[in-house]
Amino acid sequence: MKQLKTIRSFIKRQRHLGPTKQKIFDELWPKYSMGITTDQISPKKIFGRSAPLILEIGCGNGETIFSLAQKHPEQDFIGIEIHKPGIASLLAQLKNNPLNNIRIYNEDAVIVLKQCISDHSLDKVLILFPDPWPKKRHHKRRLIQSKFTELLQKKLKLHGILNIATDWEDYANHIMAVFQNNPNFSALDTLKPLPLLHERAPTRFEQKGKSKGHDNFDFWFALKETMSLQAT
Ligand SMILES: C[S@@+](CC[C@H](N)C(=O)[O-])C[C@H]1O[C@@H](n2cnc3c(N)ncnc32)[C@H](O)[C@@H]1O
Repeated sequence: MKQLKTIRSFIKRQRHLGPTKQKIFDELWPKYSMGITTDQISPKKIFGRSAPLILEIGCGNGETIFSLAQKHPEQDFIGIEIHKPGIASLLAQLKNNPLNNIRIYNEDAVIVLKQCISDHSLDKVLILFPDPWPKKRHHKRRLIQSKFTELLQKKLKLHGILNIATDWEDYANHIMAVFQNNPNFSALDTLKPLPLLHERAPTRFEQKGKSKGHDNFDFWFALKETMSLQAT
């Protein structure tokens, strides 16, 4: 029987780290790494406490997760990034400023969410400048799809917050359409000042887009209390 091919939101590029980054990686990866497990993780066991849990998907070079974790020692952070050199850059920041409230997966976020992240455990999810896959024939690779939002819905706490940002207008329209079809999320009114929502610094991809004159589309959603969610 023909196997169905999994459509991924990334293309795995095998890149070697330079000797300096490789050394930092070898030294720090054991402290910060998380691996794929068959059971859902216990954030309490991992961080040794109960604290708000923030997940960043596609954390790139890690500037955002690093600065937020440094600013908020009272919160715990998990980053997921498939591209190893990005992780090495995050580890380089952690080498200079060690933090106990960060853990990292170098895996596909879909697998991590499905298998490892505990249901209804996340206070906030950040997906900042996901790959836009601009060609029409590649749109199926975009991370934000109905099935993926259902997965996020299962992992967020009730009233948990989801922030997605893109500088690609066509992707922004797609994101809007996906969430319009999901009644379990309500869009937050970003025109009103929402305390602490906009505290992140510009990411590397955000800066790249700005230098090309791109506009930003920043989406904020909250998970509504619903019967179907309570039942899961
Ligand atoms: C356009 S970059 C944005 C990186 C960063 N958030 C920023 O704004 O600078 C998208 C990142 O998502 C990562 N990525 C894409 N799909 C992923 C997946 N399924 N699991 C984990 N990482 C993924 C890519 O490797 C890439 O680093």
